[in-house]
Amino acid sequence: MSDPTRPTGPRIIAVANQKGGVGKTTTSINLAAALAEQGLKILLVDLDPQGNASTGVGVETSARNYSTYDLLLGEAPLTEVIQKTEIDGLWISPATVDLSSADMELVSAEKRSYLLHDALRQIDMDQFAFDYVLIDCPPSLNLLTVNAMVAAQSVLVPLQAEFFALEGLSQLMLTIREVRQNANRDLRIEGIVLTMYDVRNNLSQQVESDARATLGELVFRTMIPRNVRISEAPSFALPVLSYDSSSKGAEAYRHLARELLARHTPVKTKVAG
Ligand SMILES: Nc1ncnc2c1ncn2[C@@H]1O[C@H](COP(=O)(O)OP(=O)(O)OP(=O)(O)O)[C@@H](O)[C@H]1O
Ligand SMILES: [Mg+2]
Repeated sequence: MSDPTRPTGPRIIAVANQKGGVGKTTTSINLAAALAEQGLKILLVDLDPQGNASTGVGVETSARNYSTYDLLLGEAPLTEVIQKTEIDGLWISPATVDLSSADMELVSAEKRSYLLHDALRQIDMDQFAFDYVLIDCPPSLNLLTVNAMVAAQSVLVPLQAEFFALEGLSQLMLTIREVRQNANRDLRIEGIVLTMYDVRNNLSQQVESDARATLGELVFRTMIPRNVRISEAPSFALPVLSYDSSSKGAEAYRHLARELLARHTPVKTKVAG
């Protein structure tokens, strides 16, 4: 049903790892902010009922009249759901706890994995002319994450530079493979980004060398250091790029954005297993 007169859509990236607290939301917010700083127009989709990405870019709970939930279920038009943030070029589809409801399960089995895919390809998207859509996934391989993978062209995986970091990665790769087989043949891995990296810690270096040995070119050269400004920024409802523009954390996310843009043709993935 593709219409040759319609503009090509944005590049859609799912930020996913079923492991909790590895830096998905931090990476979604700050990579989005760094891409916006480059003059690109970005939509951040908060797909986690925790709503941390929404809070992190300054959208208070009281300002979430419509949410990603409404977008998925078609209960509000896209133009009502997405909001402009205080950051130039950055828009958000905010999340509320509604996203954890089982209502999505009520949609027919063939359709329920395509809710976000369809929502992001509706004609209303054209007027915004987004360059990138980043999807902040919940810490689970549930229907929400599957929706993100079906909607996206690629998956970006934050990996916390700590013991057991690589554990669980094969489960994630398996899910990606299933999505490829069933719904989104061209889904790629955009890359794996090491987060909370501590240069003084041998363990961080060990995780890095393991990750590079196992996953090769899939691992971004850029690593995100453990940086206190990054962890402070959300309590000021700002990306670290606005909170402390010259911090190591802000610089790292700018660097990641540049590397991502330079990679633009992503590496073909070798899926483990
Ligand atoms: N580079 C960093 N330096 C310091 N603290 C960080 C860094 N990255 C993330 N954090 C902190 O670690 C915690 C977890 O990060 P974040 O919320 O981004 O992870 P997540 O994968 O989205 O978690 P969840 O699985 O719950 O969604 C947060 O408190 C965040 O501020
Ligand atoms: Mg999160």
